Amino acid sequence: MYKILLINGPNLDLLGKRETDVYGTITLSEIEKTLTSECNKSGDKITCFQSNAEHEILDWIHKSKKEKYEIIIFNPAAFTHTSVAIRDALLAVEIPFIEVHISNIYKREEFRKKSFFSDIAIGTITGFGLTSYEVALISARSYLNKDK
Ligand code: DQA
Repeated sequence: MYKILLINGPNLDLLGKRETDVYGTITLSEIEKTLTSECNKSGDKITCFQSNAEHEILDWIHKSKKEKYEIIIFNPAAFTHTSVAIRDALLAVEIPFIEVHISNIYKREEFRKKSFFSDIAIGTITGFGLTSYEVALISARSYLNKDK
């Protein structure tokens, strides 16, 4: 059984209503339900968290160490392109994480091509909507399995 933390950043609570031409009609609750149901099947424990506030995301990353999460699946949303503080928190706790994006950030505006996370993530999955999260979950399990 693996202990997995799913963190979604700002404005992802608006999925389904927000720029549907870019992000599709999937809602955050559908994403969380899909991953939770996959984890129920495999016997893994997943905690889902979303926040629009940088300090709350920092607090969860700090807490993830104490609560012994083994891996984080993380869509930093707009913080992808701005947050040195969240990058530093992930480096501090040393919990492996997978960076996820619904849209393909390399196909969009220039400023989205810079991620503060890609070079410290296990890997980045970008552009596949809900499937980005499903692939991240499969990849998380296979990453954790490699030591077994
Ligand atoms: C996003 C891409 C980011 O550039 C954007 O700010 C988001 C969502 C994505 O999932 O495609 O809010 O992380």
